[in-house]
Amino acid sequence: MKIQSICCLGAGYVGGPTMAMIAAKCPDIQVTVADMNDKRIAAWNSDDLPVYEPGLDGVVASARGRNLHFTTDIRGAIAAADLIFVSVGTPTKSYGIGAGRAADLRYIESAARLIAEVSQGHKIIVEKSTIPVKTASAIKAIISANSSSEATFEVLSNPEFLAEGTAIADLENPDRILIGGESTPGGQEALEALVSVYAHWVPRERILTTNLWSSELSKLVANAFLAQRISSINSISALCEATGADVDEVARAIGMDSRIGPKFLKSSVGFGGSCFQKDILNLVYLCESFGLPHVSEYWRQVVHLNDWQKSRFVEKIVRTLFNTVNGKRIAILGFAFKKDTNDTRESPAIHVCRDLLREQAVLAIYDPEVEPDSIRKDLAEAGVSPELIASNVEIVADPYTAVDKAHALATLTEWDEFKHLDLARIHHLMLKPAFVFDGRAVLPTTALKAHGFDAFVIGKGG
Ligand code: UDX
Ligand code: UDX
Repeated sequence: MKIQSICCLGAGYVGGPTMAMIAAKCPDIQVTVADMNDKRIAAWNSDDLPVYEPGLDGVVASARGRNLHFTTDIRGAIAAADLIFVSVGTPTKSYGIGAGRAADLRYIESAARLIAEVSQGHKIIVEKSTIPVKTASAIKAIISANSSSEATFEVLSNPEFLAEGTAIADLENPDRILIGGESTPGGQEALEALVSVYAHWVPRERILTTNLWSSELSKLVANAFLAQRISSINSISALCEATGADVDEVARAIGMDSRIGPKFLKSSVGFGGSCFQKDILNLVYLCESFGLPHVSEYWRQVVHLNDWQKSRFVEKIVRTLFNTVNGKRIAILGFAFKKDTNDTRESPAIHVCRDLLREQAVLAIYDPEVEPDSIRKDLAEAGVSPELIASNVEIVADPYTAVDKAHALATLTEWDEFKHLDLARIHHLMLKPAFVFDGRAVLPTTALKAHGFDAFVIGKGG
């Protein structure tokens, strides 16, 4: 079976870039990305893409209008496709059974019902969204109960491992592509069809095929292991601060042991992003559901430590500023969950800013890519009242405005431009003593001291 037409439901951070890369690499396949959000689709069709991602513009420009299309006509896109990626959101459930841990699958379910309703002939459905193990069987059950008798379906799992900020490089040159399918002849045929799409540019030996459940579970486990490393090094960052050790030196020393390796050992104010917390909590819930409370408690601690790291950073600020930040201007540099993305989902900045606002601080927030409206929306969703946002939050267009007459400066995202700030000018603009809280260890530490700042850097004792 040769794939000629692909559609993707969900034009988000995953669906948009992934489909753009498939279209760029497979000129013989028509690729349509469908989303119910018409503003988002209009942005994908414009020069101002809704997702900020280095290199994405070029990939989209190379294929858009040729074999890459963005539309709100979801039904039409499903009807025309041989293969349908489902890349809609799977947020953590906020209500009812499993609240705060389980994945909310309502968007996946409505996508499955729509596919059943619209489809004729044979379709391959591919889970791209991260979902709990066994979702494929739920999708299959919904579809077979709702589709016309002549329609046939196969369900595959193909989790995405791209990281935001490096999505284009990750998609172009992935460590591996993971595809899970059923061992039936139909399942294997569908699996091979998707393998041949990726084989347009990914070497065969890097395309891994497994059974459905292994593929679904591997995505959760990969993110849990990555996040666990960050929580581990962050636990050590607190010990370094207490003992006079330097967490970067410790990370380098252990990272050179090839069995441990150098990556994901950068201590920070905490990890964020749409996946880590959600996927670990998902794993926690899965373990609970299968009667494994010790295992679920073990993974829950990775998230607890992350929350503690953010709270501890706020406490450090308040204690250092003579136990009160009431009415004090604090410059916040960076709001995105990491550099090179405009995504703020689960960004540690939300937690830190919320807690500082509860202490009645006045925040001057600067981020080079995040829209002011999304900062206000994130704070409101985190429980900060509209009045407090209106009176105590200023969103500014450059870092120097942020630090003007500020009591303190805190870095919450490691944007490269922060490495090159004019520290003499900043010191001059700030009130004295000029306190710096470098939550991302992004500022030049020795230069900070040389310019007379009173600086705290995460994980650095002494
Ligand atoms: C999503 C999932 O959240 C994540 O678990 C998975 O690993 C990849 O897909 P992301 O692309 O970052 O991640 O999410 P988001 O940017 O929120 O995009 C989802 C899109 O789906 C949104 O544009 C939304 O409008 C759209 N959508 C959602 C639909 O078109 N229909 C729906 O029923 C629900
Ligand atoms: C992650 C996974 O890396 C990716 O494979 C998966 O498919 C989706 O989830 P992403 O959330 O885009 O990707 O970003 P990632 O680079 O993993 O960073 C997550 C968070 O951890 C960020 O807040 C980042 O700043 C933080 N981090 C990362 C650290 O604090 N220290 C590190 O050493 C690495």
